[in-house]
This record gives sequence, C-alpha cells and structure tokens, in this order.
Amino acid sequence: MAYIDWSSELSVGVNLFDEQHKKLVGIINKLYDAMKEGKGRNVLGEIFNELIEYTKFHFKAEEEVFLKYDYPGYSEQQREHSKLTKEVMDLKDKYDKGNIFITVEMLSFLKDWLSHHILEVDKKYGPYLKQKGIS
Ligand SMILES: [Fe+2]
Repeated sequence: MAYIDWSSELSVGVNLFDEQHKKLVGIINKLYDAMKEGKGRNVLGEIFNELIEYTKFHFKAEEEVFLKYDYPGYSEQQREHSKLTKEVMDLKDKYDKGNIFITVEMLSFLKDWLSHHILEVDKKYGPYLKQKGIS
C-alpha cells in the first residue's frame, strides 16, 4: 500500500497541477518504500533531492501561471512557497546531519507538508483559474 493515496479530494481543479501534485505524492511514496526496504543513505538522499528539485519546479510552474493570469493570491502563494521550500530543505539538512534513517516523524511531516500545500493553499486558486478557462 502506498503511504499517501491520491484521491479526487486532492484535486485543485487544474489538470496540469493535479498531475504535478501526483508526482510529489509519488516521490514521497518512493521515499517511504525505500525506507521500508532498508535502502541506504545514498538512495534515500537521492530521493530526497528529487523531492526538493521537483518541489522547486512545481512552485515555479504555479507562480508562472498566477502571474500570467493575474491571480490576486500571488504574493500569498509566493510566501507559502518559500516557506515550504525552506521547510523541506531544512528537513533534508537535518537528515544529512543526523542518523542514517529517515524517521516516521520525517515522513509524517512530509505528508502534512504536502496536504497543507494542496488542501489549504492550492485549493484556493482552482475556481479563479477555472474562470479564466484553465482546466
Ligand atoms: Fe501546488
């Protein structure tokens, strides 16, 4: 079973961003699986980096669309994005300096981190972008 299951409740109503959110879910699930399989620091660190890189890519893609369509929540989203990017990078830092395992707490943090981003922040842009003809 996957650590996080994608469901329609997580949809923000914009296909492109749903797909990118699914990819983020996928990377966190991959990290979980690798931890369960007892993979070593190199593998875990690589997946962690993949998560950071894809997060940056995803936030940038969202911000470009917000700018293009004059989304009024742009600066709030931008603040949230830098906060979330910093949080995931801090976590990676903690992992690098700490023990060789990814802990249950770290994974549960990432799960909450992603749900917060999707459910409490991104859900707000769906209706606005839809009205602009983006789906
Ligand atoms: Fe997002």
